[in-house]
Amino acid sequence: MARTTFVVLLSLLGVVPSWADEKALGEKLFQTTCAACHSATPVPRALTPAQLAGLPPEKIFQALSSGLMVIQGSALSEIERRAVAVYASEIPWGSVPTTAEPEALVQCAAASPLPANALVEPHWSGWGLDLDNSHFQPAAHAGLTAAALPQIELKWAFGFAGGTTVSTQPAVAGGRIFLGSQEGGIYALDAKTGCAYWKFPTPAAVRGAILLDKQANGRLVLYAGDRSAHYYALDAETGKVLWERHVDDHPWAVVTGSAALYRGMLYVPVASFEELGGSSPKYECCKFRGSVVALDAKTGKQRWKSYLIPTPPRKTRKNRVGTQLWGPSGAAVWSQPTVDPKAGALYVTTGDSYSPPAAATSDAVVALDLKTGRQRWYMQATADDAFSTACIAPNPDPVVVKKCGPDLDFGSSAILRQLPHGRRVLLAGQKSGVMHALDPDRRGKVLWRKRLSPGGVLGGIEWGYAADADTVYVPISDVWESKATVGAGGGLYAIKIADGADVWNTPAAAPDCTGLPGCNAGQPAAATLIPGVLFSGSMDGHMRAYDPASGKVIWDFDTKRDFTTVNNVPAHGGAIKGAGVTVVNGWIYFGAGYGLWGIPGNVFLAFGPK
Ligand code: HEC
Repeated sequence: MARTTFVVLLSLLGVVPSWADEKALGEKLFQTTCAACHSATPVPRALTPAQLAGLPPEKIFQALSSGLMVIQGSALSEIERRAVAVYASEIPWGSVPTTAEPEALVQCAAASPLPANALVEPHWSGWGLDLDNSHFQPAAHAGLTAAALPQIELKWAFGFAGGTTVSTQPAVAGGRIFLGSQEGGIYALDAKTGCAYWKFPTPAAVRGAILLDKQANGRLVLYAGDRSAHYYALDAETGKVLWERHVDDHPWAVVTGSAALYRGMLYVPVASFEELGGSSPKYECCKFRGSVVALDAKTGKQRWKSYLIPTPPRKTRKNRVGTQLWGPSGAAVWSQPTVDPKAGALYVTTGDSYSPPAAATSDAVVALDLKTGRQRWYMQATADDAFSTACIAPNPDPVVVKKCGPDLDFGSSAILRQLPHGRRVLLAGQKSGVMHALDPDRRGKVLWRKRLSPGGVLGGIEWGYAADADTVYVPISDVWESKATVGAGGGLYAIKIADGADVWNTPAAAPDCTGLPGCNAGQPAAATLIPGVLFSGSMDGHMRAYDPASGKVIWDFDTKRDFTTVNNVPAHGGAIKGAGVTVVNGWIYFGAGYGLWGIPGNVFLAFGPK
């Protein structure tokens, strides 16, 4: 509101063009500074004009001012950034409430305090649910069976103000649900009614899972990180900060994955969006290195920080306008590390390198020593993969793009499993569409590999898979790769962990979103498994449950509709991407509307027994 008033004032003073002039200015700037990448056939990962049109202009302005497009926006004044946003969006400025406005949360009536046994009773905490990162919720906590699934109904919906993308994995305990928001902030809501206990503001999106633990004094503590690379410990009862730590100094560093918690130590994954800077000829690409930071859970004090690329970046070449380039860089850690108490190791999956020379530890599974963070071994899946937006910029610099991509990160956590006869397997799925099975007791020796799909920059295995004792269940994205053939992309695979043999696979149905921008059948969201039910969301806006024995669809909910919400924010569903379903005590929870590359929406849904 303040900004609108400001612009209106400037407009009256003749400093800012009128509304019509603003659109015209926006159109001109869009053609010169955005259209080369954001066309009807956009560069990989960018949005089409139709997709941009579905975003609130405030969101586009924010992306250019302090978000993913800040390098592109830095060439523009504030007034120009606003003009581009107003032109690119078909939603009028100011019509979607943003979190800058005071949010009308509906407060819960005074509640009884969180019970001391909240983490003994059925609950969900963190990403993987166990140190193995199985994403498997046992029956005693799930409280839901395939037979009971038709008996659940929508109980409440929550609208994210100003938000379009939802990808948080909430925690549930003691009758509350703790939820991160893409617009910044962590909410504590009543798990049964959605009324609010508190909201803790964060300067940036909270995208990873929320983690809960019990303190020595019996109180519950909540841990989460945000996209400004801050990590927080809050009192779960009140939302008050216990400690806060900035885990990386790089200006583009982010925490998007969740921490692993083991014996009083938090292992926080650090990634970055520096890859997006490469397209600016003036940007000294690239200096960020992915890391894991070990923090004392009680105090937030850093025990160690281990860079996945051990050597700092050096000056490499100059680009054609004389900007110094740097490398190696990249190997971001996007997901929760996997803890192996038996080997005293932490398994970390890494993203691509940003600039040459590509590091040997990018697109890799890396074992770190739990105590010291020292590297023990690594298995690189894709060598020589240096990728930044320099590779896809219009009129690219020949020096920079001599060797580019293929941009095949590991985006999801590895799963550790113990097979009968004591053999152990570490499963790591890659954007390439390949599932890798490693032997953690033989320095990551490859046991088997299996290609499930063509894979690609938004393809293959994206956010995560789930496993029971002998089978791993893998949803396939291929968001981009499906463009050529409607109906392709997506799909779900069940594979034997011991040898990679097929159990079943269920191809995605034709996407139920024809005509909507970004419509496709990809299943990039993480899978969630409970005994007898496997959940996998789709970019077409459907959340589906499958029979883990056969792969048959046994439940289906289309989120593409308007919802009345408990916090009175108009909300609708859309593409499902990011975290998986949270299942606790017969209830299921998930968000819908991942607007980047898909149908936008801003809803979070809670289903319970009829
Ligand atoms: C060099 C190519 C390129 C140019 C130029 C470019 N973009 Fe982007 N844009 C991208 C890519 C790639 C992404 C996806 C980023 C990612 O990996 O998440 C993106 C993402 C976005 C997003 C989504 C951000 C979010 O947080 O969800 C918006 C909004 C956007 N661009 C707007 C613009 C506008 C407006 C311009 C012009 C001022 C512009 N972009 C110029 C490549 C480009």
